Amino acid sequence: MDKESRSGVLLGAHGGIGRALLTQFSTDASIEHIEATHRIPLYSEGEAKKVSWRTLDLECADNIQRNTERWCASLPSLDFVVCAAGVLHDGELKPEKRMQQLREHNMHRLFQINAAGPLAVLAGLEPLLKKSHQPKVMVLSAQVGSIADNHLGGWYSYRMSKAALNMGLKTFAIEAARWRNDAVVMAVHPGTTLSQLSAPFVRQRKAPVRQAAETAAHLDQLLKHADSAHHGGFFTAQGERLPW
Ligand SMILES: NC(=O)c1ccc[n+]([C@@H]2O[C@H](COP(=O)([O-])OP(=O)(O)OC[C@H]3O[C@@H](n4cnc5c(N)ncnc54)[C@H](OP(=O)(O)O)[C@@H]3O)[C@@H](O)[C@H]2O)c1
Repeated sequence: MDKESRSGVLLGAHGGIGRALLTQFSTDASIEHIEATHRIPLYSEGEAKKVSWRTLDLECADNIQRNTERWCASLPSLDFVVCAAGVLHDGELKPEKRMQQLREHNMHRLFQINAAGPLAVLAGLEPLLKKSHQPKVMVLSAQVGSIADNHLGGWYSYRMSKAALNMGLKTFAIEAARWRNDAVVMAVHPGTTLSQLSAPFVRQRKAPVRQAAETAAHLDQLLKHADSAHHGGFFTAQGERLPW
């Protein structure tokens, strides 16, 4: 294998930002192989041969375990794991405007998909991350998950799930700093980007909304250049530090 070539896992590779990231990674000569995940079975749709699709549902612990065990058995190491999966609304599940709209079931679903699921994947992939000389973990969080930056209120379940994700990543980063390599673990707010997730909320928005390809280009650069200065931090896609 070429010394410079990297291989990685991209969760949520068929979402708005995920799909654009997959396009970006597919044309990157320094990336040799990508394990791309989606909830329903998908087969390569004209992507480079280096993309393998896997079915992974972050709500299903058995499915997460099956996937991570298979990866650990079949891959020599992992140089990056990017999570572009996440949920804000889904059918009856809508961001709450008021406390009275809190529904325990919805809260649990968001917590599972946005926080517990991605962390369970990372736990399963730890043996492969430890085998790379500089493994990079980039999980898409959201600025509304910042406790320090919460000035508007609302969106309880989403905010809480992303705050939980952030704490999980920060804690994982402390543990990964003890590995015998230069691991980089970071939470990233991609910025408001046109996608199925953001569509209902950007119609009235005056501030510019980015296209997924532009966001993906920033995220790709951030991933490529991330180093020890980024380890254990929360950043915008352009690499500016955000408060937890
Ligand atoms: N777009 C924005 O403005 C914005 C702003 C801040 C943060 N973010 C964050 O950025 C990430 C990507 O968002 P996006 O805008 O690209 O949203 P999107 O287009 O709705 O894509 C979301 C992705 O999450 C996956 N997903 C949802 N539930 C899942 C589950 N149970 N198991 C596995 N995968 C699941 C979807 O998979 P399927 O394709 O299988 O449905 C899809 O790939 C999310 O974490 C989001 O919170 C986005």
